[in-house]
Amino acid sequence: MSKEKILILDTTLRDGEQTPGANLTVNEKLKIAVQLETLGVDIIEAGFPHASPGDLEAVSLIAKEVRQPIICGLARATEKDIDSVFLALKNAERARVHVFLATSKIHREFKLHKAKDEILETAVRAVRYAKNKFYDVEFSPEDAARTEVDFLAKVVEAVIAAGANTVNIPDTVGYSTPEEFGAIIKYLKENVANIDKAVISVHCHNDLGLGVSNSLSAILNGARQVECTINGLGERAGNSALEEIVMSIKTRNDIFKGVDININTKELFKTSRLVSKLTGILVQPNKAIIGDNAFRHESGIHQDGVLKKPVTYEIIKPEDVGFKGTTIVLGKLSGRHAFSEKLKTLGYSLSTDELNEAFIRFKNLADKKSEIYDEDLAAIVEEKLSTIPEKYRLEMFQVTSGNTIAPVADVIIIKDGKEKLSANSTGDGPIDACFKTIDKAVGCKGVLIDYKVNALTSGKDALGEASVKVSFENNIVIGRASSTDVIEASVLAYVNALNRFAQTHNTKK
Ligand code: KIV
Ligand code: ZN
Repeated sequence: MSKEKILILDTTLRDGEQTPGANLTVNEKLKIAVQLETLGVDIIEAGFPHASPGDLEAVSLIAKEVRQPIICGLARATEKDIDSVFLALKNAERARVHVFLATSKIHREFKLHKAKDEILETAVRAVRYAKNKFYDVEFSPEDAARTEVDFLAKVVEAVIAAGANTVNIPDTVGYSTPEEFGAIIKYLKENVANIDKAVISVHCHNDLGLGVSNSLSAILNGARQVECTINGLGERAGNSALEEIVMSIKTRNDIFKGVDININTKELFKTSRLVSKLTGILVQPNKAIIGDNAFRHESGIHQDGVLKKPVTYEIIKPEDVGFKGTTIVLGKLSGRHAFSEKLKTLGYSLSTDELNEAFIRFKNLADKKSEIYDEDLAAIVEEKLSTIPEKYRLEMFQVTSGNTIAPVADVIIIKDGKEKLSANSTGDGPIDACFKTIDKAVGCKGVLIDYKVNALTSGKDALGEASVKVSFENNIVIGRASSTDVIEASVLAYVNALNRFAQTHNTKK
């Protein structure tokens, strides 16, 4: 019996980018889109072209460069928004417009101030307009899960009649539960006369932690497209995590008997790390499927069981999601050839210039650290994947601290490759002194919202990765950097956040 396909629409670059602090540059978005193509997603929702010129540029670039998946752009139910998607997707191999309009009573009354018949008319008009420009039209009744189900069915029937090929049922505020959400999909299947002319999609937010469960329940009730994001990124508590949906369907094929997906699961781990690196949003260690602890067994009984037979405590083989574990790979004496071969086995293909640069970083690290692990190599390569232009470059920092003196820091920052900015300042600790000194040198005022240091590998000489979340002029940005010296990693992460702010807000500082 041939299996029905579940289409995966990845919205990391649209809904996922709405995660507070997750600002991506156009080039970073392209890198993620290229990796999503390797992962095998069916549709990439690349952005919301009418929302900003940056979004339009990113969607256009992705449409031009990424040829395998359908490239989709989001639009409100207005001609201007649909025109912007059309413009952005003019070079796409296969283009889709995704039109949305809220239908729930709460949104109708308090946000849109429109009655049901006006909503219906606006939705149909927008879908007809879109259909004149696109073969592939998706429509979303926003906040569908809180919409009266008979009105929802009426809207769905009308937009399909107007030309929508996909109807997406969003649980916009993550309010539903698996039984209830599954029942909505079943109701639509049974009560919308033309439902077989469209694919039913779902888009479940995770406010109650039920996004993935709701999506899976929808599949069991007839949904054939799932919208999700890498690492579950998205507004508020996020969207359904792609990796969890995919591995649930694959692992429990006894339950999801009649369906299959295209995803190359061996690319999941790498995709997750790339998205985390570029957005600056760390993956929690106990995150299902791709968290650092997902395949770690702490208790002796579990370790013994896994050694005897992995299936005792492992329901997924780590290698099936591309998790390679920690192995010592290279050292100080390793040459360029071994380095480049090892990178290939880790799935990185670098240009000659990128390889040369990465090799210098590897040698510098090997001088400080005797054993280089896979994670160290990933950090070396991925740090360079973040292509934020270096408006500010750290030339030098020095900090004195102790338990009997006030910490004091000196920094020299080079602005735009030429101007030398230097300052010194005290602070509440060595890190605070450094951050305050950087602010003073550059002439800005950053408010530190979050600060974390994470050891990438084990041992005293482990590479430490610092991550800072800073608000500059009320714009939240994230910066990350790694070094064997955690103070240096922290200072570089702060400078990285400053560069990200300068890039995304075109600061004149
Ligand atoms: O959550 C939501 O309702 C959305 C729509 C635009 C589909 O993101
Ligand atoms: Zn959403």
